[in-house]
Amino acid sequence: MPNGDRSEVRALILGATGLVGRYCLRRWAGRAGWRVSGTSHRQPLAGVEPLDLQDADATRRLIERDRPSLVVISASNPYVDYCESHAEETRALNVTATLQAAAAAQGAGATTVFFSSDYVFDGKAAPYGEEDPVHPLNEYGRQKAEAERGVAALGPDHLTLRVSGVFGWETSRKNFVLQVVDRCRAGKPVRAATDVRYNPTYAANLPDVIAELYESGRRGLYHAAGAEELNRFDLAAAIMRAFGFDPSSAEAVDAAALQQPARRPLHSSLRTDKIRAHVRAPLWGAAKALAHMKAEEPAWNTYLDQLAAR
Ligand SMILES: NC(=O)c1ccc[n+]([C@@H]2O[C@H](COP(=O)([O-])OP(=O)(O)OC[C@H]3O[C@@H](n4cnc5c(N)ncnc54)[C@H](OP(=O)(O)O)[C@@H]3O)[C@@H](O)[C@H]2O)c1
Repeated sequence: MPNGDRSEVRALILGATGLVGRYCLRRWAGRAGWRVSGTSHRQPLAGVEPLDLQDADATRRLIERDRPSLVVISASNPYVDYCESHAEETRALNVTATLQAAAAAQGAGATTVFFSSDYVFDGKAAPYGEEDPVHPLNEYGRQKAEAERGVAALGPDHLTLRVSGVFGWETSRKNFVLQVVDRCRAGKPVRAATDVRYNPTYAANLPDVIAELYESGRRGLYHAAGAEELNRFDLAAAIMRAFGFDPSSAEAVDAAALQQPARRPLHSSLRTDKIRAHVRAPLWGAAKALAHMKAEEPAWNTYLDQLAAR
C-alpha cells in the first residue's frame, strides 16, 4: 500500500450516494483496517462532501489531500436511454471526468476502481469472457468501452469491474428490482421481456468482492456479475415472489414491444470464472440475493431515514 499508514486501507468513493457507492460506504465503514470517505453530487449526505467530478481540479485536490489507497469511481450517468440522446453531456462525465479522476488517482499512488458494463458487448456471443472483443450497440456502452481502455492505458494499478443490471436498495429506485416492487405496491401491471437474458449483479456483494481483490493484490479487468443467468420475465417473477406478490399477473413480452430508445444486447451474460477463481466473497444468484434484499428492507429504511434526518 503506497499511501500513508501501511496498516490502514483508505477508500475514497467518488459517487457515494449512488447504488453501488452507498453499499460500499456502508459496508467498508465496518471493515477492520479500513477507513472510508466519499463524495456526493446532487444528494446531500451527512459526512460526505460535495464534488462535481467534472471539476477536474477539485477532484485532483481532493485525492491529493486525502491520499487514499483506493479511489472508487462510482460517479456516472448510468441511464442508458439518456446517454443515447445526450451523448456529449454524458460523455463529459462517463469518459472525460472519469479518466481525469483515474489519472489523479494514479498520480497520487492510489488504485483506481472503475465500473464498466455488460453493455460493452453486442449480445451475439454470450456468455462473454473478459478477453472477448467489445462491440457496444449504444452510446452508454461506447462510453464504457472507451473509459475501460483509458483506465487501462493509465497503468496496471486498477480494478475494472464489469457489472450487469445492478440491483439493491437505493434512493433513486431506478434498478429493475425496485421498479418491479414499486409497480406491484402501486397496483400497476408488470411487463417484462422473455428474450433479454443476463446475470444481474447484487450491489450488496460488490464491497466484499472489491475489498478482497484489492487486499489480495489482484488488479485488472473482472466480470463481477451474479451466479445465475435468467431472462427479465423470470427475474420479474422471482422479484414478485420474493416480495410477496403473485407472479402470475406479470405479462411476458418481447424486448421490441418495450420500444426503448437505445438499442440493447439481448443476451449479455458475463462469464465469471476469473473472479470466482480469485475471490472467495460470493456473487449470489437472483433467488438468494432477492431474499437477502427483502430481509434487509427494514434496516435500509432505517438507515436511509437516519441519513435524511441529519
Ligand atoms: N446500475 C446498473 O445497473 C449498472 C450496470 C452496469 C454498470 N454500472 C456502472 O456502475 C457504476 C455505479 O452505478 P450506480 O447504479 O451506483 O450509479 P448511480 O446510482 O446513478 O449513482 C451515481 C453516483 O454518481 C454521482 N454523480 C452523478 N453526477 C456526478 C457528477 N457530475 N460529479 C460527481 N458525482 C456525480 C451521484 O451523486 P448524487 O446522487 O449525489 O447526485 C451518485 O452518487 C457506474 O459506473 C455505472 O455506469 C451500473
